[in-house]
Order: sequence, then structure tokens, then C-alpha cells
Amino acid sequence: MLITRSLPAHLHPCLLRLLLLAVAALSEIVPVARGDVGTASHYSPPYQPTECYGGDPSQFPSSNFFAAAGDGVWDNGASCGRQYLVRCISASESGTCVPGRTIQIKIVDYALSTTSAVAASTQSAPGATLVMSQTAFGAIANSSVASINVEFQQV
Ligand SMILES: *[C@@H]1O[C@H](CO)[C@@H](O)[C@H](O)[C@H]1NC(C)=O
Repeated sequence: MLITRSLPAHLHPCLLRLLLLAVAALSEIVPVARGDVGTASHYSPPYQPTECYGGDPSQFPSSNFFAAAGDGVWDNGASCGRQYLVRCISASESGTCVPGRTIQIKIVDYALSTTSAVAASTQSAPGATLVMSQTAFGAIANSSVASINVEFQQV
């Protein structure tokens, strides 16, 4: 390293340790960019009509990773088509989250809609931030649970 080479030899370990401490302290104070935290449930098919696109079959991404937005995300319909990165961070039962897995989902529906396919009775848990397709939910968690805690961030 350029810095250590230009300094007296006896200073190296001290300076290096100070530098490492500074970096560690900084990363504690200024966390890496984080998304929002909320809950995710899942719902069962049929998935259309949706509040965003009605019966248009091309609305679903080929990954089948999509979701209905809860009130915190819905944004009066502006969230239709928005893409979010979602990862499972915890659940009431340990071992539920698929470790290190982040998926990208598309918002196609409103979880509280009374006219779309995502009725309350099809949702595994009430009041979730994101109500995910079974495929999406199963990609980041064990589908046998009703609800998980997620971190999500708009793409
Ligand atoms: C999912 O959870 C159920 C119930 O706890 C358990 O029986 C099953 O083995 C789990 N599946 C996986 C893939 O971990």
C-alpha cells in the first residue's frame, strides 16, 4: 500500500488498526442503503381481474413474482407496475426465510380491493404490506407460514 510504504515501519500496525476502527465505526453510523420494512402474506389463484390491469393476461411477469399492494404501498394506484426488490428478514418461526434470497416483484393489484381477484378471503394473513403470489412468497420463504417480515425497496 502506498500510505504504509511512505511511513516509518513502527507506525504501520497502529495506523492500520485505527483505519479499520474508523471504517467499522463509520459503517455503524451510516448504514448501507436500506429499503422499508413490512410484512408479506400470500394469496391464491385466480389472480385476475386485478385492480391495475383487469383481465389482461400479459400483466404478469414471466417469473410469476408479483403482488398486491397493501395500504402503505398502494399510493392510490400509482404503485401499479412498480417493481420492488423483496427479501425475507424474519418470521415467527426460525428457519422460515430462504437465506440470502432477494426477488423482484411487480405490483398488479390492491390488497384491499373489493372488485379484484385478491379478496381478503384468499389472503393468508390480514393487513400485510405486500400480498404476494404463491410463487413469489415460496421463493423467499417456506410457504407453510402465513406471514413474514420483509425488507423491500423500489427498483
Ligand atoms: C416448512 O415448514 C413446515 C412446517 O413447519 C415443515 O414441515 C417443512 O419441512 C418446511 N419446509 C421446508 C422446505 O423447510
